[in-house]
Amino acid sequence: MSIAYLNGEYLPLEEARISPMDRGFLFGDGIYEVIPYYNGKSVGLMPHINRMINGLTEIEIKNSHTADEWKTLLSDLIAKNSDLGTNLGVYVHVSRGTDVKRYHAYPEGVEPTIFCFAFAIKDPEPADRSQVHQYSMVSTEDLRWQRCHIKSTALLGNVIHFQEGYSTGNDEALLFNAKGELTEASSCNVFIVKDGVIATPIQDNQILPGITRRIIIDSLKADGSLKVEERIITLEEAQNADELWVSSSSKEIAPVTKLDGKPVGNGEVGEIWEKAFKIYTASKYDF
Ligand code: PDD
Repeated sequence: MSIAYLNGEYLPLEEARISPMDRGFLFGDGIYEVIPYYNGKSVGLMPHINRMINGLTEIEIKNSHTADEWKTLLSDLIAKNSDLGTNLGVYVHVSRGTDVKRYHAYPEGVEPTIFCFAFAIKDPEPADRSQVHQYSMVSTEDLRWQRCHIKSTALLGNVIHFQEGYSTGNDEALLFNAKGELTEASSCNVFIVKDGVIATPIQDNQILPGITRRIIIDSLKADGSLKVEERIITLEEAQNADELWVSSSSKEIAPVTKLDGKPVGNGEVGEIWEKAFKIYTASKYDF
């Protein structure tokens, strides 16, 4: 049985209830995080908590917990859900709260709704090119909003793009802006590899500042054996890349071997992916 946290209380997930007047429900007015734990060890816990606090501050939702209090709340939730499995993801959601009327302006004197639950996640993929799951993507113009750096619970734009991939038999949608430059995927960040050099789009308002993306860049830079760049990348570059990857807390670094029905590079998982995934895996718990 999954145990959830709702507004100060731990209870079975299926018993958790919120008001339909909650602004998270009516407006998607909230911030969320998804944090992975493998055998009780978190990946990027403080960066996730800090990103959430930054998001709450940016959209002026009261944050009633210090970073340490968040940390304790989440580890308590993990401990209470040990029978779900050894690898767990935690979903954390803070909405602006429940108002008495439906009115767009931020209400005053409303307490945020805090909802968290844990769920089982898969074991990490093997760092082996011949065994890892291979992803496929479809490219499509990024038609979301101009504030993609905010991890908002208002995910309809992302959901529509994800569905474009899903309904065409793909795992993800590769998004590019009106200038033909890559932004990210509907629920992941993206990387390309060309001639041994790894590149990922610049962190700006067009992408979520992914924690996995940051751990990949920082661990590769600390290791020093592979070159990684943050720069503008065109869709054409992705189409001609040797390797294409997506990254997220649940997928870690996933190799994409098909884009728009065509093979990426030679159509096989690349050797740079394997090297990078080993480096990432060796240091992911340090963040
Ligand atoms: N998705 N870009 C988007 C649009 C995302 O939704 C996500 C995460 C990422 C990767 O961020 P991180 O490495 O911090 O998980 C990039 C989460 C997991 C989700 O919505 O389920």
